[in-house]
Amino acid sequence: MKKKAAAKHQSKLRDANSAKAGDQSSHKSGAKPQDTSHVKAHLKLHSKTHPKRGGKFQRAKLRQIIFTKAIDRILKGRLTRRHLEQPIAFREIEIAVPNWPRAFDGLRIGHLSDLHWGELMPLNRGIELVERLDSARIDMLACTGDVVDLEWKGCEPLLKAMGEIRASMGRYLVLGNHDHLDDAVEFAAAAAHHKLDVLHESVATRRRAEHDLRVAGIDWNKSPKALRASVEAIAHTRPHLLLTHNPKAFAAASDAGIPLVLAGHTHGGQVALRNKPQKNMALAHRHSSGFYEQGVSRLFVNVGAGAWFPYRRNVPAEIVVLVARRG
Ligand SMILES: [Fe+2]
Repeated sequence: MKKKAAAKHQSKLRDANSAKAGDQSSHKSGAKPQDTSHVKAHLKLHSKTHPKRGGKFQRAKLRQIIFTKAIDRILKGRLTRRHLEQPIAFREIEIAVPNWPRAFDGLRIGHLSDLHWGELMPLNRGIELVERLDSARIDMLACTGDVVDLEWKGCEPLLKAMGEIRASMGRYLVLGNHDHLDDAVEFAAAAAHHKLDVLHESVATRRRAEHDLRVAGIDWNKSPKALRASVEAIAHTRPHLLLTHNPKAFAAASDAGIPLVLAGHTHGGQVALRNKPQKNMALAHRHSSGFYEQGVSRLFVNVGAGAWFPYRRNVPAEIVVLVARRG
């Protein structure tokens, strides 16, 4: 009975999300902050699989103490200093997407992923990056998660900057595994408050010249089976674009014929062979960096702007403007 009630509730929330997404005026700069109740309610349904400040938070905190703080102390701060000195690449890339809607040919998508706000991504640096993306004249902001590294409180100015990006086709966010470590419900509500459209198994529709662009987003999950279930839950809406933190959703997305999928999470392994970014340390991922195709679907995996460990070799951090072309 409980399961049935939860499923019914979830479907109601999805409907509410779809209806909300159709209201373009709610995304305009200066619009009222979004109603966050649907986001909170949806995430609370997942509270068993994503408990707040559970063992995962403690393990991540311990990992930070051992791998970052302790090593950095031994190296007298050199590791973090060098990491922060490494430039972040701003790239603009055209991508040919079969079945991309003609009315949205040339859409400029600002793809931001894995900022990991915290000790390795100070607030002013994060805001600067967001402002730089804003100056790139994007039509849409697509953030594929891990905005924060551990605790979320204090990141609000970053969310505010993201919510103020000029993007007439919307500003979307899906949550990553790190966004779930502390309190995903409160974090997502704060993001929605700052006018970011948080997508959880939901679809937003935008109109241009009487044509629709459907943007779907799914929440973090590690399991390919659970990711497939999430993709299948939104596939009937026939989205043109899917945002997912975990690139492992691509198998299901390509089976569903979704034209374009954007993901993050892998950080491109953070260490790769020189000039061979796809030969990297993200060994658990078949799709770990850059472009992939399967059938009529295309995937771009962003290697992220930040990191939880202060070391990258041959995998520069990046922020990408993808220019989507029908082709
Ligand atoms: Fe990440």
